[in-house]
Amino acid sequence: MTDTHVIGSGLLYGRDPAERLRGAVNSINQEHGDAAFVVLTGDMTHWGDAEAYARLSGEIGKLEMPVHLMVGNHDDTPAFAKAFPQAPRDENGFVQTGFDTEFGRFLLLDTKDVGTPAGAYCAARRDWLRRALETADGPLVLFMHHPPLRTGIAAMDRIMLQEAEAFFDVIAPHKARIRHLFFGHVHRAIFGNWRGISYSCMRGLNHQVALDLVDDPTRIAATFEPPAFGVVLLYPDQIVVHLHDYTDSSKPFLL
Ligand SMILES: [Fe+2]
Repeated sequence: MTDTHVIGSGLLYGRDPAERLRGAVNSINQEHGDAAFVVLTGDMTHWGDAEAYARLSGEIGKLEMPVHLMVGNHDDTPAFAKAFPQAPRDENGFVQTGFDTEFGRFLLLDTKDVGTPAGAYCAARRDWLRRALETADGPLVLFMHHPPLRTGIAAMDRIMLQEAEAFFDVIAPHKARIRHLFFGHVHRAIFGNWRGISYSCMRGLNHQVALDLVDDPTRIAATFEPPAFGVVLLYPDQIVVHLHDYTDSSKPFLL
């Protein structure tokens, strides 16, 4: 899941992000309780304050499986680290880590740049990633908040990962092993392929970015298209990403 944008109290754009998250957590526990783990690809909170992280912790703590939390531009790393002191961070304090699965090594990257909604992947983070890639054998799956690619939504492209070429230079030698790239930030369901790497982005849980392809980088139009999370199936030779429209209440019927 991505972009939960939890706030400490009240409503965000007229909606309660914590309630949206609660619905997702219930859906995961009830319908996908066999999931090995959950990854939240950033923008856990909207304002990055302690109250919001406490609320997030209360909701996400109800998941019946482990959850891996990542920072986005709306997050505040010191406030996050205070609320989740056990969350792994690299030697420079960036919220990035790697772990092994039956499918391969999963790498969760920190693309936050303090003071801007755009993403960064500085030299220190690139060094960490270079080592992480060189010391991992077998298939790789990458997770990051900011996309390193343009999606055609001009205002979001303006705040994509700013050091995308330097980032690509680090992953390029390992490209053939990178099975998929998950990102958030764009608050839309987006699927595609970037330089040979398949990728997907899920909707946000509170609000969405409109499919607005007008070439105006100053305007981000938002909508209340339904929230969704991804259900990812891993097989030795393939990865499947389902989008689950978990607030849909229509009853299944037999065809
Ligand atoms: Fe977001």
